[in-house]
Amino acid sequence: MKIIIEISYLVASILFIFGIKQLSSPKTARKGNFLAALGMFIAIVVTLLDQHVLTYEWIIIGFIIGGTTGTLMAFKTPMTGMPQMVGLLNGFGGGASLLVALSEFYKMKNFAQWSFATSTNVTVTLSILIGAVTFTGSLIAFGKLQGIVTGKVVKYPGQHPFNLFLLIAVVIAGVFFVVDPSLEWIILTITAVSLVLGILLVLPIGGADMPVAISLLNSYSGLAASATGFVLQNNQLIIAGALVGASGIILTMIMCKGMNRSLMNVVLGGWASAGGSGPTAEGASPKGDVKSVDSEELAMIFDVASKVVIVPGYGMAVAQAQHAVRDLMNVLESKGINVRYAIHPVAGRMPGHMNVLLAEANVAYDKLYAMEDINDDFPNVDIALIIGANDVVNPAARHDQNSPIFGMPILNVDYAKTVVINKRSMNVGYAGIDNELFFYPNALMYFGDARDAIVKLTHALKEA
Ligand code: TAP
Repeated sequence: MKIIIEISYLVASILFIFGIKQLSSPKTARKGNFLAALGMFIAIVVTLLDQHVLTYEWIIIGFIIGGTTGTLMAFKTPMTGMPQMVGLLNGFGGGASLLVALSEFYKMKNFAQWSFATSTNVTVTLSILIGAVTFTGSLIAFGKLQGIVTGKVVKYPGQHPFNLFLLIAVVIAGVFFVVDPSLEWIILTITAVSLVLGILLVLPIGGADMPVAISLLNSYSGLAASATGFVLQNNQLIIAGALVGASGIILTMIMCKGMNRSLMNVVLGGWASAGGSGPTAEGASPKGDVKSVDSEELAMIFDVASKVVIVPGYGMAVAQAQHAVRDLMNVLESKGINVRYAIHPVAGRMPGHMNVLLAEANVAYDKLYAMEDINDDFPNVDIALIIGANDVVNPAARHDQNSPIFGMPILNVDYAKTVVINKRSMNVGYAGIDNELFFYPNALMYFGDARDAIVKLTHALKEA
């Protein structure tokens, strides 16, 4: 039985690895997701058949409650609410690791078995520390994105030294626990301080930087699971946790690069000093007149263009305009116009948000250009058509040191001959700041809900 279990875990781990590999490209992502899910299915079945399971009652109750809640959440959560959902699920992962480690401690205590290896005591401590930080940190991240907790940057004197002090306190308590694992108050102190640390690390982070924090917490949840794998001596959990931890940290680094943030600042929490003071920062609002156009006027401008770049953003997701955008692309291409898409790494509300939507609308992958692959070409572009994007095309990020998004690489749409911005009003985007682009001489505002506006433009183009 043992050998069958280990081989099955190995097969599941291989499926995870191939699954993650395939998730790295939109072309193979669906297959990758399926492979990883198959791996998880095998892992669950094998674990349930394991002889260590004494009774199935609690497992079935947990399965029904968790399965029902998860299914309802998956159906009810809109695409735009995904970051919160991911944040919450990370938190549950961390919380589970915390509970498993604590229950292992109480198992030792109840059976008065203090003969566990030092390595087990170390991993119990790590599992509690990382699991608790992930749990409360993720709940705060969820609260910030959901608007329950302030999305502002929260700062107070001595913030970083205090966090460091708490971390050192946990490490010292951990050493005491490893030396004498029978001290219950030590393990409870580690738990309590770690829970507080999770709150204090995430609370300072402003809403605009929350995607990176969520990605980092995702990585933490993997590390917590891996540590729990060592506690339970379960190879599958060690491998799966390590994969989540490693892929989470890679994603965090990609996002840090996309937003020009330093990973160290993210780890320490509250890095907003790198730019302005967060989403509510008050800078000088751009002033002047904006030029607005209607669909017929716009159709005439497009009719004489030869190179168009479409820049999708959060508004396209809200309006579910991706199919209308694809129809527009088809009409433009039928007129001999070259159409490409420029994708900013943090456009929308989750990594790969725009890629997912455009793939759903069957836009060919080779039409999608990452920011670094297209940014230099904007001076050669006739029209940059922005659909529901705002922060990711705000030129203030390049020059306004007081802006909360200062230093974030943006799509250089303002270098195109004409920039057309489709949105419903002059309202701000996620970072809560005005966009000077709208007042640029080569900018034209095309107001309206993205789907309606793009459908109208497509009709007008067909008739032009
Ligand atoms: P945003 O800066 O958030 O701007 C979106 C714009 O879409 C808004 O200004 C809004 O203006 C417009 N809009 C909303 N509904 C619309 C509709 N139905 N039709 C047309 N327009 C609509 O979006 P972005 O440029 O994609 O930037 C993303 C921001 O989110 C960044 O600040 C990023 O840091 C942050 N963020 C990203 C992620 C990830 S991982 N992608 C996760 C969380 C946060 P109107 O109200 O005037 O229409």
